Amino acid sequence: MAPAMDIETPNVAENFNDHRDGLALEATSDAIDDVNVMKAAMKVKNGTATQEEVDIYDQSQFDAEKDKTQFRQYEDACDRVKNFYREQHEKQTVAYNLKARNDFKTKTRAEMTIWQAMEKLNTLIDESDPDTSLSQIEHLLQAAEAIRRDCKPKWFQLTGLVHDLGKLLFFYDSRGQWDVVGDTFPVGCRFDESIIYPGTFENNPDSKDPIYSEKHGIYSPGCGMDNIMLSWGHDEYLYHICKEQSTLPDEALAMIRYHSFYPWHSAGGYRWMMNDKDEKMLAAVKAFNPYDLYSKSDEMPDPAKLKEYYMELINTYFPPREGETERVIRW
Ligand SMILES: [Fe+2]
Ligand SMILES: [Fe+2]
Repeated sequence: MAPAMDIETPNVAENFNDHRDGLALEATSDAIDDVNVMKAAMKVKNGTATQEEVDIYDQSQFDAEKDKTQFRQYEDACDRVKNFYREQHEKQTVAYNLKARNDFKTKTRAEMTIWQAMEKLNTLIDESDPDTSLSQIEHLLQAAEAIRRDCKPKWFQLTGLVHDLGKLLFFYDSRGQWDVVGDTFPVGCRFDESIIYPGTFENNPDSKDPIYSEKHGIYSPGCGMDNIMLSWGHDEYLYHICKEQSTLPDEALAMIRYHSFYPWHSAGGYRWMMNDKDEKMLAAVKAFNPYDLYSKSDEMPDPAKLKEYYMELINTYFPPREGETERVIRW
């Protein structure tokens, strides 16, 4: 008998699931960001932040007035965010994560260039509300422009530009918001106290599994984070795409893969799984985080004016193949 085919024939005719409520996803995603900004602010106020974190916070244009508004937003955000996390923390199991990865590998959801993906994400999320606070393209360009202003390398700028494109997942085969956005965490080992709302894992069957509920679970200390299964979402999805279809360096791939792994990069959890490579990756992810969290109040970028500059970067790290002027990415 012939061995089972691992890769199905790509089905690129699949329709976008555009009845999905992109605005609701964005509202959740924004509330999650608000909570992470407030957590950073509280660390500074409690005196538990490192000097580097204090400096970043000081530079982030959050004056006292804004802090107060932010705090109100935080309280509103909390309810929404807590409900969101309760669902996510119940449903992100090892079994679900294995299935999500298998679905990812055996299907091509669409074929588009990077720029087309940016526009597509923008339309899917924002078309129903032109007054929405910040469009996807603007967030991506703001992050990239802030990185560029600080004279960081081109691959770093491009990472800012693409880091959230994985949110397209919401319009393909995600099961809800909970497997697209939100802080991420490892599955297959005990859910750590460094995860936001650690009390909400009670109904996750893995928390009662004899192996998965052990501190190290299916892993061993120092095994390296390349070998860890992180909860499935926009970060992990885009990481796999970029790993296979771009020439972005490891630091960029880490920024993409771990940008929502707050329990690790901001709360200091899961150090036991790191190897030497991960120490370097952690520094990269920490360098990226402020651009994601704090560039949202920057000036509005104009996509038409910036396209030419960023197309050159895209073509460098997503090199076109023979017969292409722009690399068509399999999503
Ligand atoms: Fe993100
Ligand atoms: Fe982002």
